[in-house]
Amino acid sequence: MPQISLATLDRLKAKGKRFAMLTAYDAGFAGLMGEAGVASVLVGDSLGMVVQGAGSTAAVTMEDMVYHTGCVARGVAAGEGDVPLIVADMPLGSYYTPEDAARNAARLLGAGANVVKLEGGAWLADTVRFLTERGLPVCAHLGLTPQTADMLGGYKVQGRDAAAAKRIVDDSLALDAAGARLLLLECVPDAVGAAVREGARVPVIGIGAGPGTDGQVLVLHDMLNVTRGRKARFVKNYMAGRDSVAAAFRAFAEEVESGAYPAPEHCYG
Ligand code: KIV
Ligand code: NA
Repeated sequence: MPQISLATLDRLKAKGKRFAMLTAYDAGFAGLMGEAGVASVLVGDSLGMVVQGAGSTAAVTMEDMVYHTGCVARGVAAGEGDVPLIVADMPLGSYYTPEDAARNAARLLGAGANVVKLEGGAWLADTVRFLTERGLPVCAHLGLTPQTADMLGGYKVQGRDAAAAKRIVDDSLALDAAGARLLLLECVPDAVGAAVREGARVPVIGIGAGPGTDGQVLVLHDMLNVTRGRKARFVKNYMAGRDSVAAAFRAFAEEVESGAYPAPEHCYG
């Protein structure tokens, strides 16, 4: 089964084709995602909430991430379709120094990840460069960064005013120049999503970042309507009107590729 690589995503971007990513934490769901045409799976530290039942991502450990990355890697390999690219989150506290980051990134790659994701802005550029020089591929997560959401005033849209928007775009340029192979942009106005994509050499994946990014990601439990309580504006229930998880994954991949998702009601215009 063909492996979807960073080069595959680069080619899709060059052709102006959009691609889908979903979070996965176990083998069963991850296997179905590849079969449904989801290009990439994210082993997110959102597992702190949706798997472990905590209120934030703060308590997620490297051991948790290694364990779930292994589960997902075995799952995608057993699936029938193209094998999705696996991105795995570096948990809070695992990348304060470049050396720590490299050691921990290598553990996640050893567990089966293809790319590691770190949250932060321009301050992270030295770490991104350190990992990249050592052949460890990085996705940089910016905009709303859940590991440090309290510092940002909670789960709120980022980059609302011109100065904040410019800082996010400048951060994205610094991380791209430092060698990040993917950018992930969370919870920003559509115009910021489009501006980041405009300046980026590498594919930009959005969650609540408008229709202008190269890829779109949702949390598995959100799109399957498992999550209780108030939902973010960008969440869409793909189980509505469908009778299987596989059909929900296929619909998400198709709607991302066609541009039907995100619709204006999922965006911060
Ligand atoms: O952990 C996660 O699920 C994430 C997504 C929200 C992008 O980082
Ligand atoms: Na995360």
